[in-house]
Amino acid sequence: MAVTGISDQEQISGEIASIQAEYEAGLANGAAVNNRTVLDYPPYRSSLLRHPTKDLHHSDPETIELASPAFGHRDVDGVESDLTIQHSGEPLGERIVVTGRVLDGDGRPVRNQLVEVWQANAGGRYIHKRDQHPAPIDPNFTGTGRTITDDDGNYRFVTIKPGAYPWRNHTNAWRPAHIHFSMFGNAFTQRIITQMYFPGDPLFPLDPIYNSIVDPAARARLVANYDHSLTSPEWSLGYRWDIVLTGQQSTWFESEGVDA
Ligand SMILES: [Fe+2]
Repeated sequence: MAVTGISDQEQISGEIASIQAEYEAGLANGAAVNNRTVLDYPPYRSSLLRHPTKDLHHSDPETIELASPAFGHRDVDGVESDLTIQHSGEPLGERIVVTGRVLDGDGRPVRNQLVEVWQANAGGRYIHKRDQHPAPIDPNFTGTGRTITDDDGNYRFVTIKPGAYPWRNHTNAWRPAHIHFSMFGNAFTQRIITQMYFPGDPLFPLDPIYNSIVDPAARARLVANYDHSLTSPEWSLGYRWDIVLTGQQSTWFESEGVDA
């Protein structure tokens, strides 16, 4: 599809709707559910020239890539899972706990898994030279953390709810609030990256990245649940989000190069 000029939200939303309608018509005619992201997804303008166009091939990694890196509890400090204590003062924003389990396709816990997160601050600003939009940097918030899953596959982060932020996919394009997640498996070759969203975000229907997962159930698996049992009095709100690595209920994972 040839795309010229900068599109507006109405045009992007129209394209999202027509792709969605095409997918749902296919389902009605017996097509298979597609749990994966659609790589050739024109509304996601900034991916048009860089999404994969060839079929994937299995690589034959060197032995060292299959065995490294090997992360253990000694390598990751417990305080690294609290993004609110990395500086001398409290970061601004809504303090939250995000927790859940990393599971395989059969529901078994994935233990000792390195889970890394990165996110914008409460104002929707990243500490990154490419993010120069006029929202404040928070001197008490870097926006990165990591942890190791326990024997039941649990991870837990304390952080600040990120803000929505603008990006230049089209005119007036805004990303729904999200936290980026990475899991390494046991080797670099197994790394997977995805995004967690917050329930009820009004930007969901407008966002081409979120909607490039055309199956509604697969999209919904990227949205955390608010969980009042995880909310602490006078302290923080709690969200639960499980990550399923394989199988029909798997979480969607993005390909390398998604940078929003
Ligand atoms: Fe982001």
